[in-house]
Amino acid sequence: MEDTSKTGNDGIALKCEGLTKLYTSGLIRTKTVVGARDVTFDIKRGEIVSLAGESGSGKSTVARMILRLIKPTSGDIALNGRSIYSYNIREYYRQVQAVFQDPYSAFNPFYIVDHVLERAFGLREDNLNRDERSKIIRSTLESIGLNPSEVLGRYPHELSGGQMQRLLIGRSLLIGSQLLIADEPTSMIDASTRAGVLNLLLSLKKEKGLSVLFITHDIGQAQYVSERVIVMKQGEVVEQGPVDEVFTRPQHPYTKELLAAVPTLYERWKECS
Ligand SMILES: Nc1ncnc2c1ncn2[C@@H]1O[C@H](COP(=O)(O)OP(=O)(O)OP(=O)(O)O)[C@@H](O)[C@H]1O
Ligand SMILES: [Mg+2]
Repeated sequence: MEDTSKTGNDGIALKCEGLTKLYTSGLIRTKTVVGARDVTFDIKRGEIVSLAGESGSGKSTVARMILRLIKPTSGDIALNGRSIYSYNIREYYRQVQAVFQDPYSAFNPFYIVDHVLERAFGLREDNLNRDERSKIIRSTLESIGLNPSEVLGRYPHELSGGQMQRLLIGRSLLIGSQLLIADEPTSMIDASTRAGVLNLLLSLKKEKGLSVLFITHDIGQAQYVSERVIVMKQGEVVEQGPVDEVFTRPQHPYTKELLAAVPTLYERWKECS
């Protein structure tokens, strides 16, 4: 059989192998903190994979390594079969974008939000004029449930956290990214609009074949949005597999503990076990 692991034709968008990040901290950098240890998983094209676990379990550490914001202590990350470090940074960010826990951090408070959307065109290959860019921005915003006249021309502090998180998803669409790293993308959104963002991710996956790493400590959201889940504890992956399997027949005591915090799922799990 043809070995497609190098060409990226095996349907795998992202592959992390043995990812480890040891932080050194303290006044003279003598203390070592495990951010992540030997984390291995992959994401197929057009797949949403959830990364779940309690606070401090290493989810954002994994996200920051994939986003090339910090370097792994050891291990490999490949995008479409190639090491992420073999791409030049502009080429890499054309394909991989992020929505953060705190969306305001991605925007300069002194510029209206249009600025960040305009700058997204700098990562595209086409050379569009101002009118064409403006048209694309407006239709993209509409496609993700934002009213252009409500958000354009405004400063970040004049918008809600939920609008800002949607704007970041919009930005990745403008760029045409294939992989979205969504680190608690609904953290700033109240429960009533949360479903809207989750449904948006589901429709982008279906219609555009977007791959998503969906980071959450909310098991309910992980179950709603993804087909596979990876459970982390203290920097290590303790369990991974199809959501229905992991959440109805958890193998690891920690996964059972997480589920116990979600009454309805726990009841289902008890019935099935
Ligand atoms: N820059 C840093 N220097 C030292 N230790 C760090 C640093 N960043 C994270 N850590 C530590 O690494 C571990 C994993 O942190 P991380 O931010 O990845 O957790 P998380 O799962 O994203 O948590 P949360 O759900 O609260 O966002 C924690 O023990 C944290 O204190
Ligand atoms: Mg985090």
